[in-house]
Amino acid sequence: MRLDKFISKATELSRKEAKKVLHSGDVTVNDTVVKDGSLHVDVLNDEVMWAGETLSVATGNRYILLHKPEGFECTLKPKEYPIVTELIAVPELTSLRIAGRLDVDTTGALILSDDGGWLHRVTSPKHLHAKVYELTLADPMDEAAQQKAIQKVAEGILLEGDTEPTKPATLEFIDATHARLILTEGKYHQVKRMMGYFGNKVEALHRASVGDVTLDGLEKGDSRFLTQEEVASF
Ligand code: URA
Repeated sequence: MRLDKFISKATELSRKEAKKVLHSGDVTVNDTVVKDGSLHVDVLNDEVMWAGETLSVATGNRYILLHKPEGFECTLKPKEYPIVTELIAVPELTSLRIAGRLDVDTTGALILSDDGGWLHRVTSPKHLHAKVYELTLADPMDEAAQQKAIQKVAEGILLEGDTEPTKPATLEFIDATHARLILTEGKYHQVKRMMGYFGNKVEALHRASVGDVTLDGLEKGDSRFLTQEEVASF
C-alpha cells in the first residue's frame, strides 16, 4: 500500500493532510525518515511511525458493536438526524454496513461490519439468531391480555401489509407495561407493529442482545470490536 494511503487509513487524515505530515519529516518507515508518499509499505511487516507512535491499519474485516443511543439514524447518509457511524472511531466508515437497523428512538445493540457474507448470516432468519428487545408499553395489559398476546406471538402474526406471518417468537411480561420480546427475524418496525396488533403502543424500545453478543458494560454511545468468538458465533 502507498505510504500516504497507509497514513490516511491509520489516522483518518485525508490523503492531502497525510502528504503534509510526510513533508514535515515526522514519519519514519523502519526507522528511516520518509517524505515520499508513493513509497510502498508492507502493512504487515514495515514499522511506520508518526511523531513517535506506531501506526497500523486494519488488515481484515471489521466487526463492531455499538450501543446505539436514541436520536441517531441507522443510515449512511444523514437526513434528519445524526447517523450512527458518527459515533464510531474507525477508518473507512463508509464501507461499514448495518446488520438489523434500529429506529431513531430505539436504543441498544447495533452490529456493523464490512463483511457482507457475515452480515447476511447475522440478519437472515434462516440462522435463527435471537434478538432480545426490552419494551415499555403505553397501556398496561392485564393477565388475560398478556396470555393471549404470548400465545399469538408464539403462533405468528400476519401484520398489515405483509404476505407472511411473523416467525414464532417469545414474549415475556415483566409487569403490565414491561415486556421482553425475542425475535429471530427483523421485519420493518417489527416490534412496534406487533404490539400495534394488540392495540398497544411501544413507548420505549431497547435491543439488549443479538445472538450471543450483549451490551454488557458498554456505555450508551460507545462501541467496541467483537471478539473472535463473537464473530464466529454467527
Ligand atoms: N422493531 C421496531 O419496531 N423498531 C426497532 O427499532 C427494532 C425492531
